[in-house]
Amino acid sequence: MSESEAGEPILALYSSAASHRLYDEQVTELEHALQAGLLADEAGAPPELIVAALLHDIGHLVVNDLVPIDQPLTSDARHEEAGARYLRQWFDPRVCAPVALHVAAKRYLCGVDESYRATLSASSVRSLEVQGGPMSTPEQVRFRSNERWRDAVALRLWDDGAKRADMSLPSFDEWLPLINHVASSTPG
Ligand SMILES: [Fe+2]
Repeated sequence: MSESEAGEPILALYSSAASHRLYDEQVTELEHALQAGLLADEAGAPPELIVAALLHDIGHLVVNDLVPIDQPLTSDARHEEAGARYLRQWFDPRVCAPVALHVAAKRYLCGVDESYRATLSASSVRSLEVQGGPMSTPEQVRFRSNERWRDAVALRLWDDGAKRADMSLPSFDEWLPLINHVASSTPG
């Protein structure tokens, strides 16, 4: 893939009206993405995982499934799969697998750590039931059989932390060199 092929359509999605809608009570989709990318960067994650954190919810923009936080959620559009499918045109599993697994990672963490659920935002609690609820023990074993499960858990914790109203953020454009670098270094 050429460098320009990845950054331009991704930037268009994060410049769209949908990206400025509230993701939860505190932040927009765009702010949520920028905060998740920043947290991964601050944690010293490899470039592919930083890109995964930044773009983990791109599926919400692709399938346009956001339901206002004050309304009930009755179905799951599986935004994590839509996002991973979209990203596969430029990126390999180092980026796409943690994106695809970030909802499973929430269900996993709810299954293995009772105190984790209390840390979730209202929007994450609301979506938990339609996403399948906490993982059972056999589901946890299956989840850990994925070689990217640790990346998915790390991404999930940045995701959960990326809902702050008081964070100063760079513009999305500043991430384009990294997005394009990771896309161009992905084996074609
Ligand atoms: Fe998220």
